[in-house]
Amino acid sequence: MTTVGIDAIEIRTGKLQLDLAETFAPAQDEDPGKYTKGLGLHVSSFPDVYEDIVTMAANAAHRLMERKGLTPDDIGRIDVATESAFDNSKPVSTYVAGCLEQVYDDDFHHANKGERKFACIAGTQSLDDAYNWIRAGRNRGRKALVIATDTALYARDDPGEATQGAGAVAMIVDEDPDFVELSTDQGFGSADETDFLKPNQQFPSVDGKRSMKVYLARMREAMEDLERAGVELHPDDFALIPFHTPFPGMVRKAAALGYRHVCRDTDVELELAEEIGRQPRREEFKTQEQFFDAIEEYTDALTETERYEDWYADTIEPTLEIAREVGNWYTGSVHVARVAGLKHALEHDRDLTGAQLLVASYGSGAQAEIHAETVADGWKAEIEALNVDDQLDRRYDISFEEYERIHDVHNHDTDDYADVEELTTPSEEFVFDGWGRMGERKYRYVR
Ligand code: CAA
Repeated sequence: MTTVGIDAIEIRTGKLQLDLAETFAPAQDEDPGKYTKGLGLHVSSFPDVYEDIVTMAANAAHRLMERKGLTPDDIGRIDVATESAFDNSKPVSTYVAGCLEQVYDDDFHHANKGERKFACIAGTQSLDDAYNWIRAGRNRGRKALVIATDTALYARDDPGEATQGAGAVAMIVDEDPDFVELSTDQGFGSADETDFLKPNQQFPSVDGKRSMKVYLARMREAMEDLERAGVELHPDDFALIPFHTPFPGMVRKAAALGYRHVCRDTDVELELAEEIGRQPRREEFKTQEQFFDAIEEYTDALTETERYEDWYADTIEPTLEIAREVGNWYTGSVHVARVAGLKHALEHDRDLTGAQLLVASYGSGAQAEIHAETVADGWKAEIEALNVDDQLDRRYDISFEEYERIHDVHNHDTDDYADVEELTTPSEEFVFDGWGRMGERKYRYVR
């Protein structure tokens, strides 16, 4: 069977940055450690005045197409995943295609375009759609352009404000991929939940603490479902495990739950038992509460063992390196985690060709999906081609007053700030250029 997966990937960050410890914490009258150690975040990315989900998506896609020598004729579908859309009818993919058509001679009139919504998991669902389209043989030799783009903004003073971020990830999905090959096996955990939602509003209504519990519950279900599909999950079988990363502290909790789950009844549990005892079993406790307390105690002990710490340092920690510097990108977040892990491997001479990744996606509302991937032969060249470090270094560091203005600029309900000056100078990129006669957003390419 021909392999199908991600052939190439590109990342585009918002061009502004908010330092959480130096700038945000003092303004909130909070200890910086809450952000840097507790949540595990140092910096959030923000879009400048002329950036939005379309410009970030189009700029990522443009660099990707240029790098791979592609033109619109090579692309058979454009799927955009976002939870920050500004139009309930016209999909973001049409705007992205419109931008790209400004710089190419051919057009995307032949391409099937759409927009995927299921909170942060929609990026992975769009990958699935592209994968299925190619597997079904409907692509006529063309590739899919999949883009996850978001401005993850919260209402001012919402506890989620510290986890904001903005950026896009563009991916080419194709046969015989150079980057990673997707497996056909998937595990799902899905339930009707009201933990994080945007009922016809821009900023989310969030029950933050509950959202964390829902994340963990759906992840556990997805692992169980993957095991039912016949996939054996042993912690040492995966070189990296990229998780959806709303903030690294969330992944710290999810990794511990995952490790505990997959080690139960294995040689690893037995080895660890000498140090910290066996995992608590429900039947050993009179009440659910006593069982949960015992699980918590076991998990605390587990995460302090050398075996777990080594596994975490190799398998999880590298995937968090970019998230710490950009915040939550919602639909793009798990795809940033995959890149971060592979980038770390390249920088540390770890050859992962042929290695297995376990990719754990999540969207509030709520659904988790877990699948395995195989790292393809061309992964090093793909990672080397990224300019993510340059982009992060070049970001403009905003003061708290600038942050307040920028937040208002991107608030769809506020137009007092329509004339706010940009903080960076656009060059060789798509920019937002005002509104058209039907309220549509307009874009142009700045040379
Ligand atoms: N030094 C070190 N650690 C500190 C600290 C300090 N000075 N002060 C606090 N901390 C720790 C806390 O102990 C806590 O860690 P634990 O959870 O391990 O105990 C952590 O820092 C955060 O502190 P709080 O719990 O007090 O923070 P908070 O209540 O202000 O908000 C939040 C945390 C609920 C996650 C909030 O940021 C939020 O609502 N975020 C948006 C929702 C979200 O991201 N949920 C994640 C799951 S849903 C999802 O993944 C989808 C998505 O993308 C949104």
